[in-house]
Amino acid sequence: MGYEALVLVTGETEQPLGYVCFGKTPMTAFTYDLYWIAVDPETQGKGVGTRLLHALEALLRQRGGGNVRVETSSQEEYDGTVAFYLRNGYETVGRISQFYREDDDLIILCKRLLAGE
Ligand SMILES: CC(C)(COP(=O)(O)OP(=O)(O)OC[C@H]1O[C@@H](n2cnc3c(N)ncnc32)[C@H](O)[C@@H]1OP(=O)(O)O)[C@@H](O)C(=O)NCCC(=O)NCCS
Repeated sequence: MGYEALVLVTGETEQPLGYVCFGKTPMTAFTYDLYWIAVDPETQGKGVGTRLLHALEALLRQRGGGNVRVETSSQEEYDGTVAFYLRNGYETVGRISQFYREDDDLIILCKRLLAGE
């Protein structure tokens, strides 16, 4: 199964602006984990994360679609990250309290992609 990544680069030097790392979830028919998405801090808020997410979703639709699962933290510093997923059609489907540590819950978000959409 393993990990795969999409990297968005710019200019002749192909400087990376951000990447998304994902992989097929073991023991599932059509579920993927989005393990990490990160954009250069100086470039955040300019649409790079959305472009990476759309590129990932297009790729997974080509492969037949399925679920994309994301896990993140309830800490305030991740409020922007949760908002990013929600505005891109992800739904909060679960929460485990005190998962990472006291006052730091696990938040699970998911989006269903249909093939060829
Ligand atoms: C979350 C992240 C990938 C979003 O990428 P981005 O290129 O900044 O996002 P976009 O420009 O495409 O979308 C902007 C939206 O994302 C959200 N957002 C999250 N972090 C943000 C930030 N630092 N700056 C601006 N918007 C941010 C907001 O909801 C914003 O919507 P708004 O413009 O209506 O306020 C990026 O901010 C990042 O790398 N964050 C740190 C790493 C991280 O938390 N990764 C996710 C781990 S699960």
